[in-house]
Amino acid sequence: MARRSLENLRTERDSSVTEPRASNDLWGGRYAEGPSAIMREINASIGFDRKMWRQDISGSLAHAKMLAHVGIISAEDEAAIREGLAAIGKDIEEGRFPFSESLEDIHMNIEARLTERIGEAGKRLHTGRSRNDQVALDVRLWVRDAIDGLDAQIAAVMREMVARAAEHAGTVMPGFTHLQPAQPTTFGHHLLAYVEMLSRDRGRLADCRKRLNESPLGAAALCGTGFPIDRHMTAKALGFDGPTRNSLDSVASRDFAAEFLFACAMCATHLSRLAEEIVIWTNPYFGFIKLSDAFTTGSSIMPQKRNPDAAELVRGKTGRITGSLVGLLTVMKGLALTYFKDMQEDKEGIFDAAESLTLGLAAIGGMVRDMQPQVERLAEAAGAGFSTATDLADWLVRELRFPFRDAHHVTGRLVALAEQKGVDLAGLTLEDMQFVEPRIHQGVFDVLTVQASVASRTSYGGTAPANVARMAREWQEKLG
Ligand code: ARG
Repeated sequence: MARRSLENLRTERDSSVTEPRASNDLWGGRYAEGPSAIMREINASIGFDRKMWRQDISGSLAHAKMLAHVGIISAEDEAAIREGLAAIGKDIEEGRFPFSESLEDIHMNIEARLTERIGEAGKRLHTGRSRNDQVALDVRLWVRDAIDGLDAQIAAVMREMVARAAEHAGTVMPGFTHLQPAQPTTFGHHLLAYVEMLSRDRGRLADCRKRLNESPLGAAALCGTGFPIDRHMTAKALGFDGPTRNSLDSVASRDFAAEFLFACAMCATHLSRLAEEIVIWTNPYFGFIKLSDAFTTGSSIMPQKRNPDAAELVRGKTGRITGSLVGLLTVMKGLALTYFKDMQEDKEGIFDAAESLTLGLAAIGGMVRDMQPQVERLAEAAGAGFSTATDLADWLVRELRFPFRDAHHVTGRLVALAEQKGVDLAGLTLEDMQFVEPRIHQGVFDVLTVQASVASRTSYGGTAPANVARMAREWQEKLG
């Protein structure tokens, strides 16, 4: 149908133009065929939606089987369709399929080829369906597959992190707020923070999967069909929980794709934050971790350089993933019900986001495995910047019954004194301490070391190495 109108458009235009087709000054060279070539190019999605060929074939197989089951087509036609689609699948897989731009999209490319191969029966396949429900189905199936792939990949990255966390449950490092030294923490605790985030990302993908798992096939163009199709049967065959309940919604909605893109963007944002930390940690002024040549590059001019390019690219790719989310929401926001061709613009963003995230996860997983925490440097940094000041204030509360606000004030004065003398808190003498607060006694020095500080934080979810080791074990069990 769309093809016929395209032809009409060409004939109409052609008979009304007097100059030769190729002579248009504006687009002359490129668009030798005039406006119809522009129409074809803007209309075609085959350049990218060919990625959904497996999903398109699965959908058609289920549809044909159902058509035969309810008696709309014959068993022979169904068998011919099945064999024809299998051969087409093989051709595509082996790079032998003649994709055609004038057949617009993957749906028409496959269907036209099927008819070429098997004749009449191929023309019966589209009974009781439309490209509108077909594309809605294919995109759902593609996203569902992508979710399953990403979920497995995130789990693998989590396993990698948990293994490193168990190894470094007691490796102290500075904990930051505002990128200023705040309190000592451990490398393991830090990694497990990302494990929590990634676990929620898996949860979001699983939620999205649950909601999208309804089949739009059989909603046809927009209002359903008069043919006695069995939507429950196709839904079941394609692994859906059931058919969608409203035909208009089925062809008009892409919220499942927006949800998917949000889950991708959120996960990418988490990876990006770790990537940013890797950039900071590998900076020689920090020197917290080392990355091997596998994940760094040299500079073409500065021989000493070792750039964390992989981390930078994980961070950078987050932009395009978030861009895909914003792009899709923007495409959808002005659309009345039901289908508009605008919606063809959903796919590239979906594909690109899934592929970028796949690559980002692989890179982060690789870097987590590759990174060498510089244990001594981390310990030294953990103690710098008066990082045990909170421990001192807490000691005043516990030992001398200070109200916390007063303890905070006294500790502030002790930090100022230490700063003035150019020592850290443990470098102050007892006399120095007693000059500020006479009741302080020798016991205070027990809480001023980094090790004591982390060991004391045993509250549930706290940074104490024993907690971290236990959490890592729990995650190991959960992730298997
Ligand atoms: N290629 C189209 C898309 O991606 C398929 C649906 C076409 N439907 C139509 N009514 N023209 O959305």
